Amino acid sequence: MERTFVAVKPDGVQRGIIGEVITRLERRGLKLVAISMMQVSDSLAREHYGEHVERPFFAGLVSFISSAPIVAMIWEGENAVALARQTMGATNPANAAPGTIRGDFGINIGRNIVHGSDSLAAAEREIGLFFGPSAGLDYTRSNDVWITES
Ligand code: RTP
Ligand code: MG
Repeated sequence: MERTFVAVKPDGVQRGIIGEVITRLERRGLKLVAISMMQVSDSLAREHYGEHVERPFFAGLVSFISSAPIVAMIWEGENAVALARQTMGATNPANAAPGTIRGDFGINIGRNIVHGSDSLAAAEREIGLFFGPSAGLDYTRSNDVWITES
């Protein structure tokens, strides 16, 4: 089953909306298989956001993501990568639809509450970076058969 990496960024933790993020992903039907509160180091932040190294916002992004604790998670489910991104909403909260996490809680692109992997390859890379390649519990929920037809 597909897995994706999601993190509540420092702004989401400080604002007390960790539970909101988790609730919305649970409500969608995705399954939480790993969770860890952590302080991101400068080097992990640079590695994680390496694709943006040339962008003007890179330094600010790295310093923001390492400025206070985050909640790192692995979520599992059919189409988990795309569904988590859809539940999060557009990168810029100003453009994110109401009903999405960013559309309901954010107003500024530099404070957009959550991160989610943007592809299966990115998910594997980011899970490896934050948890190690074999992380994530394998377990069954009694309602899994009511969420995904197998
Ligand atoms: P993320 O990686 O954090 O889940 O966000 P994303 O895929 O939706 O967006 P991405 O293009 O990967 O950008 C990463 C983060 O960089 C910040 N950003 N700032 N000031 C700007 O123009 C700008 N553009 C991007 C955002 O915090 C974005 O989440
Ligand atoms: Mg991204």
